[in-house]
Amino acid sequence: MTDTLTPVLSDTWDAQRPWTLPAYRDAGGYQALDTALEMEPSAVIDLVKESGLRGRGGAGFPTGMKWGFIPQDPEKSGGDKPKYLVVNADESEPGTCKDIPLMMANPHVLVEGVIISSYAIRANHAFIYVRGEVLHVVRRLQQAVREAYRAGHLGTDIHGSGYDLQVTVHAGAGAYICGEETALLDSLEGLRGQPRLRPPFPAVAGLYAAPTVINNVESIASVVPIVKNGAEWFASMGTEKSKGMTLYSLSGHVARPGQFEAPLGVTLRQLLDLAGGVRAGHRLKFWTPGGSSTPILTDEHLDVPLDYEAVGAAGSMLGTKALQIFDETTCVVRAVLRWTEFYKHESCGKCTPCREGTWWLVQTLARLEAGRGSEQDLETLLDQCDNILGRAFCALGDGATSPITSSIQYFRGEYLAHLEQGGCPFDPAASTLFAREAAMA
Ligand SMILES: Cc1cc2nc3c(=O)[nH]c(=O)nc-3n(C[C@H](O)[C@H](O)[C@H](O)COP(=O)(O)O)c2cc1C
Ligand code: SF4
Repeated sequence: MTDTLTPVLSDTWDAQRPWTLPAYRDAGGYQALDTALEMEPSAVIDLVKESGLRGRGGAGFPTGMKWGFIPQDPEKSGGDKPKYLVVNADESEPGTCKDIPLMMANPHVLVEGVIISSYAIRANHAFIYVRGEVLHVVRRLQQAVREAYRAGHLGTDIHGSGYDLQVTVHAGAGAYICGEETALLDSLEGLRGQPRLRPPFPAVAGLYAAPTVINNVESIASVVPIVKNGAEWFASMGTEKSKGMTLYSLSGHVARPGQFEAPLGVTLRQLLDLAGGVRAGHRLKFWTPGGSSTPILTDEHLDVPLDYEAVGAAGSMLGTKALQIFDETTCVVRAVLRWTEFYKHESCGKCTPCREGTWWLVQTLARLEAGRGSEQDLETLLDQCDNILGRAFCALGDGATSPITSSIQYFRGEYLAHLEQGGCPFDPAASTLFAREAAMA
């Protein structure tokens, strides 16, 4: 593995109008599609399997293996049932901010990835489900899809291959839960977005009860360079079980926040060097490796390789590689309360542990943050987390507990300091609960 940046998906982001079709073509765009169309669909699946690409949407599930679950035998896939590819572009996790810049700067790499991936799984209709609030991204994607149709990259008989594909760009309506893949499918079907019971898994009965692959934007975009450069090239980057390059998003108290494309296994220390370090005069206090639902880590973990295995062994998850950096001026209790309020707001209400539990988490945390609780509240909080973790219907509930349990693990003293001082030691006047009470008075 190398310790330098490896711009592949982000390579053209600083070019002139890189989002246009001519700019994309000048950079070699739509050539991988020709290569793929000359292969058997199953050979494309094998190539992606060999590359070791794992889903970039959070869980790190092997992409080629997921595609292999789609029944290719018409008998097993319910006769002439269609197959669908659905791209998850909902990107709403606090801290996660890679798919949106990717789609803004280079929407055609996603469109080309969609065509190759749909061809591989023998789908003739693909959907891109985009977070509704980012209207500028929706428009950019729609424009790219229009350009691709006009140029013959989409529609019927693509590049003279006999393969047909329609692509629909669908804007979501602003719910974080619609990024959960089965809630996304319900939402796409026009229902209220709530997770589905599994089995059946989407590969068997997904969109409109037909075999469906759901993949993250970055996963699908990564297929293009894999087809272009080969599985070996991709697998030569990264670590033993976490292959390839990926987008790390640094935000918060960092000198130069942004996207840093590097091989899996790079460390936060290396990324911070590239990003100019923690903002001048300050030091790292805590950080998330992959968005707010991954347990926080501290400056003890600066040298943990950022791959799925090592971050897991350090007690967290690589998730979406959204590295939110917090320096010593941040109150960890306040930050965790804000995240918890988000989870409470976004809980879809389908299951009791999450619907009720996230409400109780906010009550207990707000009391602690305001310095009005007792040490017993910390145990109550952990007990509430215990009643959600593993008992909720989907991963949103589990994710809501991660910042709480990990912050108590590393910063119990800071929670106690709130109790001892009767408020936030960082900024007593701005305690969230006090502010709320004042606003209501
Ligand atoms: C509450 C919740 C929100 C999610 N939001 C997203 C999202 O915005 N984008 C995404 O790709 N995956 C999201 N996921 C993960 C998806 O369920 C799914 O694992 C992913 O889209 C699979 O794609 P991949 O295999 O390419 O990673 C979310 C999961 C949960 C539980
Ligand atoms: S865990 Fe939360 S978001 Fe998931 S189904 Fe239950 S209530 Fe809905």
